[in-house]
Amino acid sequence: MQKIRKAIIPAAGLGTRFLPATKAMPKEMLPIVDRPTIEYIVKEAIASGIEDIIIVTGKGKRAIEDHFDINFELEENLVRKEKFELLEKIRPSSQVEIHYIRQKEPKGLGHAVWCARKFIGNEPFAVLLGDDIVEAEKPCLKQLIEQYDETRSSVIGVQNVSDTETHRYGIIDPKTMEGNRYQVNGFVEKPKQGTAPSNLAIIGRYILTPEIFQFLDKQETGQGGEIQLTDAIHQLNEIQDVYAYAFDGKRYDVGDKLGFIRTTVEFALKNEEIGAEVETILRELLSEKSVDR
Ligand code: G1P
Repeated sequence: MQKIRKAIIPAAGLGTRFLPATKAMPKEMLPIVDRPTIEYIVKEAIASGIEDIIIVTGKGKRAIEDHFDINFELEENLVRKEKFELLEKIRPSSQVEIHYIRQKEPKGLGHAVWCARKFIGNEPFAVLLGDDIVEAEKPCLKQLIEQYDETRSSVIGVQNVSDTETHRYGIIDPKTMEGNRYQVNGFVEKPKQGTAPSNLAIIGRYILTPEIFQFLDKQETGQGGEIQLTDAIHQLNEIQDVYAYAFDGKRYDVGDKLGFIRTTVEFALKNEEIGAEVETILRELLSEKSVDR
């Protein structure tokens, strides 16, 4: 059986929601406490057994490559100062190889995935989107890989969202359900409010068979004038089963300002080093605010 060894992490987006912070810095490098968001995604891939990652980058994304590279000067400096704990934190993982390819034009998520087709070749693979961090006992991607191992079919990670949010996601039209796994009638990208076929939203984790490239090759534009991965998945589902899987785990939306702040606060509160003090600060701020009122 073909093992899922390779993963694509699209990271070419302009990060307009975080301007001006992202004018000269990739949004994937924005930190949650002390770790860039993309490092959480890479860690999940490693914990799920991925051996090779290709990050699809674009203009102004050099910091991502530097981050996952060895920094001899810094390492030497930390050794001299005997800061061995920090050394562990900055050394790139030896469990995975990270490769890079550039998306030359911002033509959408489907196009970004298509850019990595030669790296993937003819084997099933994973896609992880950097806007979604998932905390779970068993890594989210691993849960999907286990579903792939059972079905030998593409599997898309989904979670329930409220009626007011469906227009922000790819939404599935479920057919039948077995445990947490759905057979799917169709996939629709960002349906207009009130028209969504369900509340099950695609959350940035995918296992795809290489046949997806037959559809991405056509470069058809969809919602927002972009080449949509969801549209290609919809077409793939017409020639072979594509399942949706409602994974276990808490998902953090770091692609949006409020979600980012919420994640930062939650992760800071859980942080061993600073959690207790952060809680004190938050309590102080909130009591100041209620006095103001
Ligand atoms: C992308 C996908 C969408 C998915 C979402 C998850 O949209 O196109 O189907 O639901 O990621 O975060 P984006 O948020 O990049 O517009």
